[in-house]
Amino acid sequence: MRKIYLISTVVFWILVGGFWLAGLSAPKTLAETETPVQKGYTLTDVAAHATPNNCWMAIHGKVYDVTAYLPDHPSRPEIIETWCGREASLAYDTKTKGRRHSETADRLLEGYFIGELK
Ligand code: HEM
Repeated sequence: MRKIYLISTVVFWILVGGFWLAGLSAPKTLAETETPVQKGYTLTDVAAHATPNNCWMAIHGKVYDVTAYLPDHPSRPEIIETWCGREASLAYDTKTKGRRHSETADRLLEGYFIGELK
């Protein structure tokens, strides 16, 4: 009886070791080998964030979540809020009245970048 117990314990640990070794040599999954792909968003994704409390804009091929900036924007709120959830390159370039934003604004905008526009 003691012999059977010993043999089954040895067999058990041999099997455990075998599975462990097989796991070590198994090919790595995609998630383990690939570097993460830059996350991109479509205009449909952007359109799902179209309120002042959740405001994304697509500007020059990039997507920005500008929700946190809206209260600080120097125009009347409705001027910028209209562009939440939309492609807003032209509006950004003209401020809707023909004058472009300053380089300070461009730098500020980069801080709200969340991904490329797909
Ligand atoms: C896309 C829609 C937008 C529209 C229609 C818009 C419009 C305007 C207007 C009317 C002004 C005030 C008047 C003026 O300075 O000529 C202004 C100023 C400003 N906006 Fe916007 N804006 C938009 C988006 C943004 C975004 C996304 C940012 C940055 C995250 C931004 C940053 C600024 C800054 C810093 C100013 C002060 C003036 C300057 O530096 O150019 N704006 N914007």
